[in-house]
Amino acid sequence: MGFVIAVDGPAASGKGTIAVKLGQLYGLPVLDSGLLYRAVGVKVLAEGGDLADAAAATAAARSLESAELESPTVRTRGAGEAASRVAVHTPVREALRDYQRAFAAQEPGAVIDGRDIGTVIAPDAPAKLYITATPQARADRRWKQLIGQGEAVSFEEILADIRTRDARDEARADSPMVAAPDAVLLDTTEMTIDAAFDAARRIVEAARSRWETAKG
Ligand code: DC
Repeated sequence: MGFVIAVDGPAASGKGTIAVKLGQLYGLPVLDSGLLYRAVGVKVLAEGGDLADAAAATAAARSLESAELESPTVRTRGAGEAASRVAVHTPVREALRDYQRAFAAQEPGAVIDGRDIGTVIAPDAPAKLYITATPQARADRRWKQLIGQGEAVSFEEILADIRTRDARDEARADSPMVAAPDAVLLDTTEMTIDAAFDAARRIVEAARSRWETAKG
């Protein structure tokens, strides 16, 4: 395995931005695994299906094409909720697993952000981060972002979204959102994105030194 950096954590923790910046720093390809689940949710809804219907969601996951990840719809608030709902179905997770594992297997490595990267997709990743922040801090970031995009939504609605999504992602039986035992926790509540990236970079640098020593 190359130098794989697993970046897990809840919605709006800063993990996506940190993953992209780590990719730039180390010259590694970056996969936002949440986009896969978002695209599945969006597809089920576009086809008039029910997010609770495992068979419909699995068919959507199996027929997913890369162009579907590029659609601006996958970045909306509704897509995040739909993603979390299709993500509870084991056959959906299985349908997306090989793609993510192949991404992780690239040389010289990869950065992947998600919920189960350090636990299920790449349990042997040499560097694992678990990025958190309080629900209030995350809701505030997400709210400002959505307001900036012109979505009319209140802070309370976003906070409720985040709490519902955390609870569902933590409680699901298959690959729940949880820090891997060997992940380094980074709480970004009081940090600017620059400070959070700096802290992440230091954690990854330490992991990289250990990985290089172990490789010999
Ligand atoms: O990271 P995100 O907010 O775009 O993820 C959207 C949803 O997708 C998240 O609430 C749960 C699901 N997801 C998952 O189950 N496993 C992943 N590795 C990534 C996302």
